[in-house]
Amino acid sequence: MPRKALIAANWKMYKTPAEAKAFVDAFLPLVAGHTRDEMALFPSPVLLPTVMAAARGSNVAVGAQNIHFAEEGAYTGETSIAQLKAVGGTHTLIGHSERRQYFAETDEIVNKKLHAALKHGLVPVVCVGEVLAEREAGQTGQVLKTQVTGAFAGITAEMAAPIVIAYEPVWAIGTGKTATPEMAADAHRIIRAEVAGLLGAGVAAKMRILYGGSVKPENATALLGQEEIDGALVGGASLKPDSFAKIVKY
Ligand code: 13P
Repeated sequence: MPRKALIAANWKMYKTPAEAKAFVDAFLPLVAGHTRDEMALFPSPVLLPTVMAAARGSNVAVGAQNIHFAEEGAYTGETSIAQLKAVGGTHTLIGHSERRQYFAETDEIVNKKLHAALKHGLVPVVCVGEVLAEREAGQTGQVLKTQVTGAFAGITAEMAAPIVIAYEPVWAIGTGKTATPEMAADAHRIIRAEVAGLLGAGVAAKMRILYGGSVKPENATALLGQEEIDGALVGGASLKPDSFAKIVKY
């Protein structure tokens, strides 16, 4: 059974509410009627109500770049899942490499967030990926296995259906360097094999694994054309409606 691709925009810490609304207003007509793939936007929390209102009733989902694992509490600066859901969010990124790198997110925290997201019915997009030194040292496979195993601790086959994984080699993020389609597909096979070992071949065969790292209109076809690549998580090239729409329609 083919996996339906998810093409997602991670806007990171960009855009004002007015810019976000202008994006959605321009983007929706470009992808109206596009049903081949799922689409999602991941704006900053302060933009969520604006983006949600502009995208309501469309074929584009909206989610958070990060959530906290606690229900609520004294966690200054954080966003709860209940808050996200109250404004209509359905998806969340978890463990993006920038969260791991700059905000000390560990596999253990990623695991807690994954459990919380599943408990509350969000679609979690769990990000994994090696840094350049790890790739150069031949450690990519081991790093990916460790991250997947850590993220999936306590996750059962019955719980796993909503989970999406994003493979984002850190050396390809925002650098203009892209993994070749073959490199990405190899990494995806390693990740899928690890999921199969943990949760069974049936679950692994259905799990979507996205690629992220300098995806652009120019390389989208080569990457997304790989059988192993079930969509994209796009940073820089998702900030402009026409560029992101071209990727969606690769
Ligand atoms: P770029 O597409 O800007 O390389 O960012 C990738 C990314 O981090 C998406 O989450």
